[in-house]
Amino acid sequence: VRLALLGFGNVGRALARLLHDRSAALPFRVTAIVTARHGWWVDPRGLELAQVLRLEELPSRGPRPTVGSLPADALVELTTLDPRTGQPAADHMLEAFRAGMHVVTANKGPIALHLADLRAAAFASARELRFEATVSDCLPVFDLARAALPHAEIHAIRGIVSSTTNHILSSAARGIAFADALAEAQRLGIAEADPTNDLEGWDAAVKATILANVLMDADIRPADVMRETISEATGLEAMRVAREGGRVRPLIEIHARPRRTHAHHLEPTEVKASFGPRHLDALDPLYAVDGWSMALELDTDLAGRIVVQLHAPHVEQVAYAVLTDLLDIASAPRSRSRRTDRP
Ligand SMILES: NC(=O)c1ccc[n+]([C@@H]2O[C@H](COP(=O)([O-])OP(=O)(O)OC[C@H]3O[C@@H](n4cnc5c(N)ncnc54)[C@H](OP(=O)(O)O)[C@@H]3O)[C@@H](O)[C@H]2O)c1
Repeated sequence: VRLALLGFGNVGRALARLLHDRSAALPFRVTAIVTARHGWWVDPRGLELAQVLRLEELPSRGPRPTVGSLPADALVELTTLDPRTGQPAADHMLEAFRAGMHVVTANKGPIALHLADLRAAAFASARELRFEATVSDCLPVFDLARAALPHAEIHAIRGIVSSTTNHILSSAARGIAFADALAEAQRLGIAEADPTNDLEGWDAAVKATILANVLMDADIRPADVMRETISEATGLEAMRVAREGGRVRPLIEIHARPRRTHAHHLEPTEVKASFGPRHLDALDPLYAVDGWSMALELDTDLAGRIVVQLHAPHVEQVAYAVLTDLLDIASAPRSRSRRTDRP
């Protein structure tokens, strides 16, 4: 299966390392890598990944090739997140479907803001859209629901999906100052230079939107998620609560209202979604999810309450989630080549 990587930053490079290290056992050939300002490289015969990984700048300069012109069966969309518009990533994906490619992404923006259009385009071209990495690295969420929850309905979701704010509040519980914990997250490249997306809950709201729309058939936007800011005062509160044996964790909470049918068609599920600091006691399954770790609790009608946790992930776990999506696509017989292949 020929892959085009759009974006070659932290995740793109981690994926290239993984594909290179396991190349003997994997059915993939990277035929294109395209960046915004660091050049691009296209070769239908396949790129030598060890060589590409040594380069800071890719050899081809000038105007970037269009997504539709890339000689690939799947587009791996790993460009920069725009949490307000989801662009230009959503347009890249629509163009890939029109050209007969599958799409795998770690980019939350287009999935939170353009899911219906992307699904329609995937359906129209009989291609797959996969985005396991968008919510919590390789913590299985969508794969879990697909594989283990057939016919079950998810009524409620609680979770820790923001590594940066969980790290800050976990550090505060150990007496570390808010500013120092934030600076460490920035130094490690986990928090962005401008951390407001994390602290004001936009990152978590985008993830809650994806979970609600994909797993609960809701139709919400990030702005519909009620957000409380994680501030220095929250850090002090976390320190005080820890002294009494509790924990303050940055939680998303999504509750579905009972579903109504309207004139024979199923309305989207109404949900109430929020993000903010919540006090947990030691019996709560999310109490022990410390530091960079993430977890989700799914409350279902048939499968009861399921909790999954990913302990202290790194960027390699994001790349692995992308790989699991690609392997799933590669295992379908129709994936082998593009429907509208060019010579
Ligand atoms: N890092 C993580 O731990 C993590 C976890 C989950 C999800 N994600 C998501 O994964 C995606 C990639 O993250 P990252 O950390 O790898 O970001 P990054 O290091 O900033 O890399 C982004 C890459 O996208 C390229 N790019 C930007 N706009 C482009 C365009 N219009 N066309 C082609 N290439 C373009 C950039 O090129 P230049 O360098 O030339 O500007 C760069 O190579 C983001 O959407 C992020 O939200 C990341």
